Amino acid sequence: MADSLDAGWLRDLWYLAVPGSEVGRGRMTVRTLLGQRLLFGRTTEGEVFCFKDVCPHRGIPLSFGRFDGREVECCYHGWRFGADGRCTAIPALVEGQAFEPGRIKAKTLPAREVQGNIWIFAGSDPAAAPPIPVVPDVGDRRADLSETMPFDSGMDHAVVGLMDPAHGPFVHRSWWWRSAKSIHEKAKHFVPSDLGFTMARHRPSSNSRAYRIIGGAPETEIAFRLPGVRIEHIRTGKVVVGALTAVTPVDAKTTRIHHAIWWTRPWLSLFKPFFRPFMHKFLSQDRDIMAMQAIGLADDPPLMLIDDADTQAKWYYRLKKEWAASRAENRPFDNPVKERTLRWRS
Ligand code: FES
Ligand SMILES: [Fe+2]
Repeated sequence: MADSLDAGWLRDLWYLAVPGSEVGRGRMTVRTLLGQRLLFGRTTEGEVFCFKDVCPHRGIPLSFGRFDGREVECCYHGWRFGADGRCTAIPALVEGQAFEPGRIKAKTLPAREVQGNIWIFAGSDPAAAPPIPVVPDVGDRRADLSETMPFDSGMDHAVVGLMDPAHGPFVHRSWWWRSAKSIHEKAKHFVPSDLGFTMARHRPSSNSRAYRIIGGAPETEIAFRLPGVRIEHIRTGKVVVGALTAVTPVDAKTTRIHHAIWWTRPWLSLFKPFFRPFMHKFLSQDRDIMAMQAIGLADDPPLMLIDDADTQAKWYYRLKKEWAASRAENRPFDNPVKERTLRWRS
């Protein structure tokens, strides 16, 4: 039987699964991601783990059971499993019966918490894989502001839709961000970077009003990398604002978008009640446009990508193809992106 991890998304990469704040100590929670029900838990010591949510005995989801902060107990026959998935007890066994519970293992996925987010690894050897992406200069701590949102959009359209530079004036039109009239020509320089490409450090366009809140003359750098991670690094004077956007497939037709922001000046937290609704509105605008797009995509129409406005989308597809080919051929990844300036109006 084919591994459901092969169902249309890239293997041997880390995916952002769930914000660590949603998995408290001694708690477990369920998410469907990468086409499967997954159980996330955190021991009383703080260690996070991820099981396929199915008991190896007779298949009931383990999440219907209990978790005491150390072991998960299946609700059907009480088999118990440690955080490594190893079975520690089978209550039905009689003394003297030779069956060894430790030989049984619930299926686990490698899970790691970085900067307050829990990532899971889809593949066979996490040690040989590219590292979990990190937002630079903000420390290993939870984001100051974060939100996750389900999108009715498959992985590719979600990623392409979020990186798309030309939709801003139409989809994100609002008094606090920009108006439709503010559309103007832009030229941005791109260089290849780890598993993707980076829009080199530049002054964000003056038509993006929200940048002005940070003050000074902010400069921003935006990196995209597979499988669908965007990291924006904004610096103004000594203040750094870092933003992570990570797209994770739920199944072939839906995704989960994680958005998290860090800042290095505590006083910026005063603006949290003000930032939060904007972030929500911004993400909702993307979600809504993609839900509308999904209506059209249902008939599987032919689509097109134009230069230069859709060149990043073309790069994404090329990067994906090369990643899959490099895995299949067991060779190093050869980044297909070439340094280039792209010009578009937005
Ligand atoms: S199904 Fe889980 S212990 Fe039997
Ligand atoms: Fe957008």
